[in-house]
Amino acid sequence: MREIKSILIVLLVSVFYHDIAAQELMTNIYGRETQSLNGKWDAIIDLYDQGRKNKIYLNQKPQGKTDFFEYSFDHGLRLNVPSDWNSQLAELNYYEGTVWYARRFDVQVQKDKRLFIYFGAVSYRCRVYLNGREVGRHEGGFTPFQFDITGLVKEKDNFLAVEVNNTRTIDAIPAMAFDWWNYGGITRDVFLVTTPQTYIQDYFVQLDKYKSDKIDVRVQLSANNNNVPVQVEIPELKIKQNLVTDEKGSAKISFNVKKLQRWSPDSPKLYKVIISSADEKIEEMIGFRNIWVKGEDIYLNDKPVFLKSISFHEEIPQRKGRAFSEADAIMLLSEAKALGCNMIRLAHYPQNEYTVRLAEKMGFLLWEEIPIWQGIDFENEATKIKAGNMIREMVMRDKNRCALAFWGVANETQPSAPRNEFLKYLIQCCTEMDTTRLITAAFDLVRFDRGRQVFFMDDPFIKELDVIAINKYMGWYHPWPVAPEKAVWNVAAGQPLIVSEFGGEALYGQSGDREVASSWSEEYQAKLYDDNIAMFNNIPNLRGVSPWILFDFRSPFRFHPTNQEGWNRKGLVSDQGYRKKAWYIMKEYFDKK
Ligand code: GCU
Repeated sequence: MREIKSILIVLLVSVFYHDIAAQELMTNIYGRETQSLNGKWDAIIDLYDQGRKNKIYLNQKPQGKTDFFEYSFDHGLRLNVPSDWNSQLAELNYYEGTVWYARRFDVQVQKDKRLFIYFGAVSYRCRVYLNGREVGRHEGGFTPFQFDITGLVKEKDNFLAVEVNNTRTIDAIPAMAFDWWNYGGITRDVFLVTTPQTYIQDYFVQLDKYKSDKIDVRVQLSANNNNVPVQVEIPELKIKQNLVTDEKGSAKISFNVKKLQRWSPDSPKLYKVIISSADEKIEEMIGFRNIWVKGEDIYLNDKPVFLKSISFHEEIPQRKGRAFSEADAIMLLSEAKALGCNMIRLAHYPQNEYTVRLAEKMGFLLWEEIPIWQGIDFENEATKIKAGNMIREMVMRDKNRCALAFWGVANETQPSAPRNEFLKYLIQCCTEMDTTRLITAAFDLVRFDRGRQVFFMDDPFIKELDVIAINKYMGWYHPWPVAPEKAVWNVAAGQPLIVSEFGGEALYGQSGDREVASSWSEEYQAKLYDDNIAMFNNIPNLRGVSPWILFDFRSPFRFHPTNQEGWNRKGLVSDQGYRKKAWYIMKEYFDKK
């Protein structure tokens, strides 16, 4: 009986989410015919969720003498889009609830074309209403979605309303408590997108996992149109390949190339790739590289690589707000480049496309993850379906980014059968779409065995992963049980291991005793880094390190009134952009590597 019930739940939930979830995403929005809807939008703060009940998305105006409406989108609050709402209005700094956004737009209606509305991200859930009717919903604060609005618009004065809510819930991803600010809002670009009736919905162009001269291409039309000719060109490689779609509207081809210059952090070579059909031509810069695991080594382009990584949240600390633009991406990535990194762990959620595309151009390998952060409702089928949608939206958006080397499926989850089943499902969602990237997850399960005097970990799930990542705060949450240089690790032997988080807090400019953690001093943090680096030398299968974290960031976890004031101070750089002493220790370590 129980089995039938859970099958019914999965069926119901998948139908529900499929219907209202974003239609199949279009790849490479920035290469399409778009009209930006960015700018100042009207807004109404709806703390008690009265807006939907009162149908304020109808934007009604009084007609007769007795009419009145207790709302109007005109002459009220105005919010920037893209941006979180927290950083725009002091009253919204801690706000959790619903905010309505609205704006009008004109559009050139082209009868033989289709029209979509695309959101780069909305945090955390939303419903979109156009000219008084709901056109779609989405849940998940960090992945794009789009809705087909063909035939629903007029040339002038369309009224668009978006009901946005960021209230934390136990069945959400992330769930009730996480160590970053719960920013809400329309946090990334909004576009109208025009396409031919049948358009090139998706394509995947990448180097074979193991061969350095074989490129695989898959093209998917928006309809199951048979025998449609499509073309793939890579002019610099003198490639022009003609394909024909099958009865599912998809076409694929593999071909050999000569003199391909593979992408790497030291030489981030990208090629112009053009995908075209009779009705449209889409292009973007795409790189080609090989990445695989052999034994305890990670090979990039046939050579073992050591990952000199760093993490950052999608936040500009000086603005106390979400990063969302190319300028923001430059701010974050230039500091990682100065530190000497060749990789970024984009914590703890898919970040905006400007950051991903610029990181690729600047030469960073990338780890991207969805926010399966600590306490997730692993026994909830609806949560599992949501997580699957989220990870598919991430892979769908970024699978043509050769810089992306790792798909991260979890951060600091505890062993359990439901967790294992949930994460195996996520891995399957990734590998169904992309078989070439490395699957990883970060764990905080390494313990010290006093008897054997060794650090060990016991979670059989690691066998499901290509690379094991360990978050370990020696010298901060865990005092040293043994001298750092004598610390012996026996973790995930036979597999590559990266230390995906380590570090400790320091308030920039605060000096104190380098032996006392509660000094929150730069000296203590610097010593902590020296000690962890000493320990790294004793981890035989260590293939990368990623300090936590590049910049101080905002978190409701951090209560200390003078040392933290709502900031997590583990940054190597302060919230005002000043480098702490530990920054220079990490720089020296990376330069020597
Ligand atoms: C955890 C977690 C981070 C968090 C960090 C910390 O490992 O993954 O998201 O910010 O520890 O405690 O600072």
